[in-house]
Amino acid sequence: MEGWMSDKIYDVPSEWTSRAYLDDAKYKEMYARSISDSDGFWAEQAKRLDWTHAPTKIENTSYAPGNISIKWFEDGVLNAAYNCIDRHLPKRANQTAIIWEGDDPSQSKHITYQELHDEVAKMANVLRNRNVGKGDRVTIYLPMIPEAAYAMLACARIGAIHSVVFAGFSPDSLAQRITDCKSKIIITADEGLRGGKKVPLKKNVDAAVAKVNEKAGNVDWVVVVKHTGAAVDMDPARDFWYREAAEMVTNECPCEEMNAEDPLFILYTSGSTGTPKGVLHTTGGYLLFASMTHQYVFDYHEGDIYWCTADVGWVTGHSYILYGPLANGATTLMFEGVPNYPDNSRFWQVIDKHKVNIFYTAPTAIRALMQAGDEPVKKTSRASLRLMGSVGEPINPEAWEWYYHVVGDGRCPIVDTWWQTETGGILITPLPGATKLKPGSATRPFFGVVPEIVDADGKVLEGETSGNLCIAKSWPGQMRTVYGDHERFEQTYFSTYKNKYFTGDGCRRDADGYYWITGRVDDVINVSGHRMGTAEVESSLVAHDKVSEAAVVGYPHDIKGQGIYAYVTLMNGVEPTEELRKELVAWVRKDIGPIASPDLIQFAPGLPKTRSGKIMRRILRKIAEDEPSSLGDTSTLADPAVVDDLVEKRQNKK
Ligand code: WTA
Repeated sequence: MEGWMSDKIYDVPSEWTSRAYLDDAKYKEMYARSISDSDGFWAEQAKRLDWTHAPTKIENTSYAPGNISIKWFEDGVLNAAYNCIDRHLPKRANQTAIIWEGDDPSQSKHITYQELHDEVAKMANVLRNRNVGKGDRVTIYLPMIPEAAYAMLACARIGAIHSVVFAGFSPDSLAQRITDCKSKIIITADEGLRGGKKVPLKKNVDAAVAKVNEKAGNVDWVVVVKHTGAAVDMDPARDFWYREAAEMVTNECPCEEMNAEDPLFILYTSGSTGTPKGVLHTTGGYLLFASMTHQYVFDYHEGDIYWCTADVGWVTGHSYILYGPLANGATTLMFEGVPNYPDNSRFWQVIDKHKVNIFYTAPTAIRALMQAGDEPVKKTSRASLRLMGSVGEPINPEAWEWYYHVVGDGRCPIVDTWWQTETGGILITPLPGATKLKPGSATRPFFGVVPEIVDADGKVLEGETSGNLCIAKSWPGQMRTVYGDHERFEQTYFSTYKNKYFTGDGCRRDADGYYWITGRVDDVINVSGHRMGTAEVESSLVAHDKVSEAAVVGYPHDIKGQGIYAYVTLMNGVEPTEELRKELVAWVRKDIGPIASPDLIQFAPGLPKTRSGKIMRRILRKIAEDEPSSLGDTSTLADPAVVDDLVEKRQNKK
């Protein structure tokens, strides 16, 4: 067993099994059937949704080179908003759908399913009145306020495709995403609020739209939600206040009939190369998979209060704040703030305040709170907690143990859920009543999921092994294409290894058949659970007039999981100063957004290159990781001496 792997095993106590949907035998039986009789299995599962035309065709997919085509339930007709709201009304009109907890601890509100219906219908009518309809793209750039949920569901209701852009992204990043999907309407707020700090969202939108329109785009409308009440510039021909428009429309809006394969949303995510890709998810398969995984993985039962701390700007927010829980008629908590504001007890206080039963967060938050010690946790009760989840990056066993023993008081199973923007929902995860837990392992595949570990040549490795993680068979929540670029879809996910989906992650399978995700094997880094393409940060750095070349890699970071390490070669004659270092950090921050800020910048007179001029990232990674003894063969370098210089001036001193 590897040193970083914990060899602890936590058995499943009978209390967990007795309240859970599934025990181990049932998991195995259902899993086997999901593979051997896949169509039968998913046809049955499709019944969890309400269809205006129930699907008779189940799966129609091809991973064949040159013909990547993924379709599920292709003759089914349904509406996602209907499934998340309307169908619950007869029983749940007065049940809370969304608990909103503000950044300021004195602010919170409960939104019932009836209220959610009315707000969504109004937002949908406001959009319809601006000629937004089926297939149109709507960019949403909102903080974590209920209007973000209304906006997404309003799009779903009228068949428009939402593209939510995380409100921490810069105007340029936003402009890029608006341009790529050509949305003519943006929904934003005056300002966001996080940890007491204001984020100038409307101002960012103004800058982004100016940029888009410069390049012959045309944004017709900007809808502005009043949140902090800050004064903002309004262009009378283009901008309007949401509340004023909502007062002019009714709270009735029929749901558009959507084919199961009609797009539901686009969500941009970073890859190894190029600009972020517009991951496209469709209606039927995505919703079914989000709803089913939400039920089984979190062992969601009627009446549970469920809280996922993600932002709706990421896929976790889409699937597990909104679509999954609401499709199941759950009460879902939406939190505007951050874990350490006003202090390090905030998460646990929110759990006590709203009697949260199921809690889902990211390892980076757990590690940061762990550093603050046990006291901020211990002074809260957390008695309502029953299950806890982790997502976004590998969780190290120390953080897992702390989460389990200190936060969960050793009572609550932890589901370490592995998945991706591309997968739509959770693919590898424990199930609380069925799976013995091993700290740091995402454990076993969910129903219908066939993981394969392959070597560099694509050979499938059996038994206890490690290599690159692929998925051999389609599942309903799989992304369907890269918006506007199907060739890139094939190139990115299906060309490295033929006839399977390549995840970009490294993985190990142990003797018990448990999966351990080891992190990205491509040029994507995972900073606090946020995906960042090294190429994006590099192109931002070289856009600075003092920089001639840049190479960016990840390095281990105690809290963030990975930090951003940038090697920068300056233009001839430019002095490498501390001031310039700060300037470059600020530059990237402004250009892409705070999540892309380099943690460490090393000025490098030269970068290690092959004789054909290719930068050897393997070597740069090892230097950044402080492992100069494992640099490997440097003899193929054009100038091996640059390596010694880089090692000597390495930035992350341990
Ligand atoms: C990583 C987030 C280890 C992984 C849902 C993946 C994880 C990338 C886990 C996707 C986990 C996510 N254990 N690694 N439980 N969950 N990852 O698209 O590298 O933002 O490829 O989706 O996060 O990030 P994304």
